[in-house]
Amino acid sequence: MSTAPRCDRTEAWARLADHHAGAGRALDLRQAFAADAGRAGAFSLQAPEVFADLSKNLWDADTRTLLLALARECRIEQRRDAMLAGEPINHTEGRAVLHTALRAPRGAAPFGDEVHEVLDRMLAYVEQVRDTAASGIRHVVNIGIGGSDLGPQMVVPALDAYTSPALTLHFVSNVDGHDIAPVLRRLDPRETLVIVASKTFTTQETMANAAVARAWFLAGYGEGGEAAIAKHFAATTTNVAAAAKFGITTTFGFWDWVGGRYSLWSAIGLPIALAVGAENFRALLAGAHAMDRHFAEAPLEENLPIQLGLLDVWYRNFLGFTSRSVAPYHQGLRRLPAYLQQLEMESNGKSVDLDGELLPFGTSPVVWGEAGTNGQHAYFQMLHQGTDVIPVEFVAVKTPCYRAEGIAELPEGVRAGLADQHHKLLANCLAQSQALMLGKSTDEAMGESAPTASKALDATTVARHRTFPGNRPSTTLVLDQLTPAALGALIALYEHRVFTSGALWRINSFDQWGVELGKALCSQLLPRFATGDTAGLDGSTAALLDRLLG
Ligand code: F6P
Repeated sequence: MSTAPRCDRTEAWARLADHHAGAGRALDLRQAFAADAGRAGAFSLQAPEVFADLSKNLWDADTRTLLLALARECRIEQRRDAMLAGEPINHTEGRAVLHTALRAPRGAAPFGDEVHEVLDRMLAYVEQVRDTAASGIRHVVNIGIGGSDLGPQMVVPALDAYTSPALTLHFVSNVDGHDIAPVLRRLDPRETLVIVASKTFTTQETMANAAVARAWFLAGYGEGGEAAIAKHFAATTTNVAAAAKFGITTTFGFWDWVGGRYSLWSAIGLPIALAVGAENFRALLAGAHAMDRHFAEAPLEENLPIQLGLLDVWYRNFLGFTSRSVAPYHQGLRRLPAYLQQLEMESNGKSVDLDGELLPFGTSPVVWGEAGTNGQHAYFQMLHQGTDVIPVEFVAVKTPCYRAEGIAELPEGVRAGLADQHHKLLANCLAQSQALMLGKSTDEAMGESAPTASKALDATTVARHRTFPGNRPSTTLVLDQLTPAALGALIALYEHRVFTSGALWRINSFDQWGVELGKALCSQLLPRFATGDTAGLDGSTAALLDRLLG
């Protein structure tokens, strides 16, 4: 276990506290930009595939210097290197944390032989299935939940431009039958490949959905159904024996050193590879690897994941922000907030440090969001005028990319309209970060006409309602295009940023004991749904059970 100090037990932490009590807390972004014409450049970083404008954040050069000192005192580089070398840093599960090995070139990381054997075999299988004339497969249903679902479910729409029109991907995760029923209803078993994706192959939701899918398949296929399972079902799991017991013979394995929420690069990425093809899947891995190298090699001053992680610590522990909103201005990234919720909140939603000591400071923020511009018409009101300051992370993509065979056939007027829409999208993105920062004073609002306000209201009252405090922080990440490589780099960036804040907080970012109690209580409650027995339950649960069964 690392002997590196916890962030709050360092000199830099005390100096950050002093800084926060003085200039650090008082920073006004509008004044900071007015005073320093070079601020945008000084607080921007270029990492592989991802440019980051960090200048609209509530920090100055001193804050950044102190945060970098904090990172060094917490020995972030040694801790990063320990992870990359395969040390068992997930100490409560006795495991290494080596998702980076999944995207490393042959021979460049631990376990390279195993990784590339499965990858080659999986991608050969992918190309067979994608030859739809020969395979007869038109639909792929991925059954998995959490890390066995959210990554592929996020990546497939993001890479829509690279997907094959011949194969349609469906994702089923919820134990609620309302998830799987409408999917299966539309499908023909003879044209369908079902992937059962589960690291453990024991997860209640996935096993229940897999059983339903199997029953649906056998009923719909008719004679020869049992034998056809070999062609129409595949499993991606570390528990190959359990998959075989279920009757699945086409299996792609992975290893206990791949955390569920870090697993889209492993066999869990099978639906992604089926959607975009082997070459694009390899490009996704290569983009992530480029970010891994940046994380491993760039000096801290230029290291984007580390700087984002440091900002997260500054915001959570000094400025007291409890949440961060993610606003991808690309409809293809609409599932990014959900993906990041698991990545960050399952990783860093912890209350004790590596030694089991209760932490005296906050850890994971709430991560939430929606694709832009949709979020603007829902909750941005609160971001601009609510009582809480919530840092926003915008993701903008410079050049749009539509599926070639679709867009090329469109009339010129439609294509021109789409180009115009992209400028509107980007203008909205920039305008929102501007509005958050600039705000609008009551004096400015007084100068505006407010024709719809009640005549009974005086001008100052109306202006107060129309005032924006401003000085609200945001980060803008920019990709040139949402290619597989760029997306791979973006996801790896987020992974390493979560590592950074977790390392400073000295928590284990790679276990998830907090999901276990609910699972255990569910197992105890389930039999009561058959018997109606409420004996020994707390009053609320007993009454609810009665109501649900009554
Ligand atoms: O929710 C807990 C969890 O263990 C996640 O960490 C994991 O991604 C998910 O369940 C699914 O687990 P599995 O892949 O084993 O089915």
